[in-house]
Amino acid sequence: MSVEPANPRAAEVSPLREPPVAGGGVPVLGHGWKLARDPLSFMSRLRDHGDVVRLKLGPKTVYAVTTPALTGAVALSPDYIIAGPLWESLEDLLGKEGVATANGPLHRRQRRTIQPAFKLDAIPAYGPIMAEEAYALAERWRSGEVLDVTAESFRLAVRVTARCLMRGSSMDARAERVCADLATLFSGMYQRMVVPLGPLYKVPLPANREFNRALADLHVLVDEIVADRRASGQKPNDLLTALLEARDEHGDPIGEQEIHDQVIAILTPGSETVGATVMSLLLVLTEHPEVGERIREEMKTVVGDRPVAFEDVHELRYTANVVVETLRLYPAVWILTRRAVTDTELGGYRIPRGADLVYSPYAIQRDRRSYERHEEFDPDRWLPERSGNVPKYAMSPFSVGNRKCPSDHFSMAELTLVTAVVASAYRFEHAPGSDSRPRIGITLRPRGLMLRAVPR
Ligand code: HEM
Repeated sequence: MSVEPANPRAAEVSPLREPPVAGGGVPVLGHGWKLARDPLSFMSRLRDHGDVVRLKLGPKTVYAVTTPALTGAVALSPDYIIAGPLWESLEDLLGKEGVATANGPLHRRQRRTIQPAFKLDAIPAYGPIMAEEAYALAERWRSGEVLDVTAESFRLAVRVTARCLMRGSSMDARAERVCADLATLFSGMYQRMVVPLGPLYKVPLPANREFNRALADLHVLVDEIVADRRASGQKPNDLLTALLEARDEHGDPIGEQEIHDQVIAILTPGSETVGATVMSLLLVLTEHPEVGERIREEMKTVVGDRPVAFEDVHELRYTANVVVETLRLYPAVWILTRRAVTDTELGGYRIPRGADLVYSPYAIQRDRRSYERHEEFDPDRWLPERSGNVPKYAMSPFSVGNRKCPSDHFSMAELTLVTAVVASAYRFEHAPGSDSRPRIGITLRPRGLMLRAVPR
C-alpha cells in the first residue's frame, strides 16, 4: 500500500533534506538562552549555517528561515498560518478572534471589515489629525526639559491610532495606561516565547503579578472604549463603527468577544510598532544631526512657512527615505513566526506538518549579502537609482502576503509627518541616563532614551 503525501508539492522536489541544527544549544533551554540573551546577533548569524536551520527552544524544534527569498516564500505560501511560539505568547493579549491571530475564512472576513479604514484613499482624511499631533508633540518640547522619549513616543502613537481609527476623544488618560501596560506585556511575552516553560509563569512572582495586572488592565480598557462608544449612541464613520456593525457570514452581528479581540488587535500593534519606530527615529536624529539638517532643508523647500499637511507627504522624499532606512535598521517587528499546516518543502528542505517557523526582518534587512555597507544609516540608498539592487523581500518591514500590515500607508504617512515636524523644529542631544541600547521584546526599540530637544 502506498501512502500519498499530505501535500503533493512536497514530493515534487526530492530527495528533501533535513535542515541542519544551529550550533550552540544547551541542555533544557536549547537555543532559548541565546535568543533570550543576545537575540539580534544570534538571528543575524544563522544564515551562515544554512538557508533553513533547526533551533531548539526548550522542548520544541523551530525552523529558522534566513534568506530574503525564502522568507518571502513563507509569507506568500498557503502552507503556513499564523501560529507558533510568537502567537502563542501573544494569545493572552490578542485573543483568538482578532484579525492579527485569526486564520482562514474568519481572517478573510475580518480583513474585509477593517480594510476600508486603511485604504489609500482613506488616509488623506487622517492627515490633519496626524499633523496636529505632530505639532502638539513639538510644542510640548519647547520648555527645553529632558524628554522621556519612551513615554512621548508611545503617547503619540496611541493618540494617533485612537483619534484616527476610533475617534477617541477621551484617550489622554487611557493613552498613558495603554503605554504602561504594553511595555510590561511585550517584554514579558518575549520571555514566554523564547523560554516556553509554562508553569514558571504561573508562580506568583512580582514580575508575573505585574504581567497579569497589565494584561487585565488592557482588557478592561478596551471594554471601556467599546462601552463608551455604545453609550454615546454615535456612529461616526470610523473603524470602531465598522467593527461594531460588522456581520458574520450568516449576516448576524459578530460576538462581543470578537469585537473585543478586534479592538485589541488594532490598538495594540498600532501603538506598539509606531511608538517603537518613533523612538528609533529620534535616536537616528540624535546620532546623525546632518540627517535632521537635510530634513529641515527639505521642509523649507517643499513646505515653506506654512504648516506641513498630508498633501506634502509624497514630496518629502528625503524625509520618507529617512523613515524607510530607520525601518530597515530598526524594524519594530523584528521577529515573526508561522506554522506549517501541511508537509511541505522550503528551499529543498523538508518542513513537516505542524512545524513552527521563525524569521527575523532585522537579520534579513541588515544582511551584508543584500546591502552594501549594511550597518550604515544611509537614507539615500532608497533613491530610485540605487534601490533597484536590493534583493526581493530583503526589505519588508510591513511583511507581504495575506498577513501584510494593513497599516503600511497609514504608518508611512504618520511617521513622515512626525519626522518632518520634529526634525525641522529641533536637534537632539542625549541627556544623562539615556540608554540607546536595543530593548528586545516582541518588538524592538531603544531601551530608554532621555533626550534634550534644542530648538533650531
Ligand atoms: C500586521 C509591521 C503599524 C495593525 C503587521 C505585520 C507586520 C507589521 C510586519 C505582519 C505580521 C506577520 O506577518 O505575521 C508594522 C510596522 C508598523 C505597523 C513596522 C509601523 C511602523 C501598524 C498600525 C496598525 C497596525 C499603525 C493599526 C493601526 C496591524 C494589524 C496586523 C498587522 C491589524 C495584522 C494583519 C493580519 O494578520 O491580517 N504589522 N505595523 N500596524 N499590523 Fe502592523
